[in-house]
Amino acid sequence: MDLGLASKRAVVTGASRGIGLATVRMLADEGVRVVGAARTITPELTETGAITVSADLSTAEGVTTLIDRALAELDGIDLLVNNVGAGDEMRPVGFLDTDDTEWRRTLDINLLTAVRVSRAALPSLMRHRGAMVNISSIASRMPAASPVAYSAAKAALTALGKSLAEEFGPHGVRVNTVSPGVVRTSVWETPEGFGGKVAAAAGADLDEFLQRMPEILNITTGRLLEPEEVATLVTFLLSDAACNITGADYVIDGGTMKSA
Ligand SMILES: NC(=O)c1ccc[n+]([C@@H]2O[C@H](COP(=O)([O-])OP(=O)(O)OC[C@H]3O[C@@H](n4cnc5c(N)ncnc54)[C@H](OP(=O)(O)O)[C@@H]3O)[C@@H](O)[C@H]2O)c1
Repeated sequence: MDLGLASKRAVVTGASRGIGLATVRMLADEGVRVVGAARTITPELTETGAITVSADLSTAEGVTTLIDRALAELDGIDLLVNNVGAGDEMRPVGFLDTDDTEWRRTLDINLLTAVRVSRAALPSLMRHRGAMVNISSIASRMPAASPVAYSAAKAALTALGKSLAEEFGPHGVRVNTVSPGVVRTSVWETPEGFGGKVAAAAGADLDEFLQRMPEILNITTGRLLEPEEVATLVTFLLSDAACNITGADYVIDGGTMKSA
């Protein structure tokens, strides 16, 4: 299938590892010129050949740095992937243990970063009749007791995607959301990540906990997702092959969600 992505120009946030890095790799393989941003520029990101921007995207200044640089380097943006999210501080706590500081931090990284990046990139996306994908989560559709702020922020991000699709569709811009289940990234696989904190709270060994997760979550396929599987869906949605798909929220979760 010809995805029609060659020589397109993309911005991917949260590009240094995980889903963002896999997306940068896949887009670069399709001949896309990519600007990838994160606070840390990893050797893996550099190896993709992407133009890299080091910026804290939880701040308005970081977003301005990214989009100014992308426009200067690429002379226009055709594709945008709002992938930054989760955040280093995410922890398994309930509502009464989530103070305003944690709510603001969670909303900043999971919602307002996408708001600000989209606002800055949309004039160019409209000019070039581009496409955008926002990375939400199945937590937006099946919020658990914790982390409460994350589910709420992702639900807002999914709603934002629909609003943007409605407002900018008539200007030639497609906007879709991808909502993954549990993906094998540092969010789950490192002791200091969310998964490490959940395992520690349960008094479990992290590796054993990860092995048992498909059973705990009743994942139909019996395994966690790989970042590349999410990147494949994102790449398809950005491509000409998806030219009449907009305002949709695609769940990719190995069958974790049991509702139709
Ligand atoms: N993994 C899952 O199970 C899962 C499931 C559903 C949804 N998601 C969503 O998928 C997206 C990617 O998650 P992931 O699992 O790939 O996460 P990850 O492996 O932790 O990667 C996060 C990326 O975002 C960057 N980042 C974090 N904070 C940043 C900041 N303030 N400014 C700029 N960059 C920042 C990180 O680089 P630096 O730290 O160097 O900045 C890294 O490149 C998130 O929106 C997450 O909510 C993940």
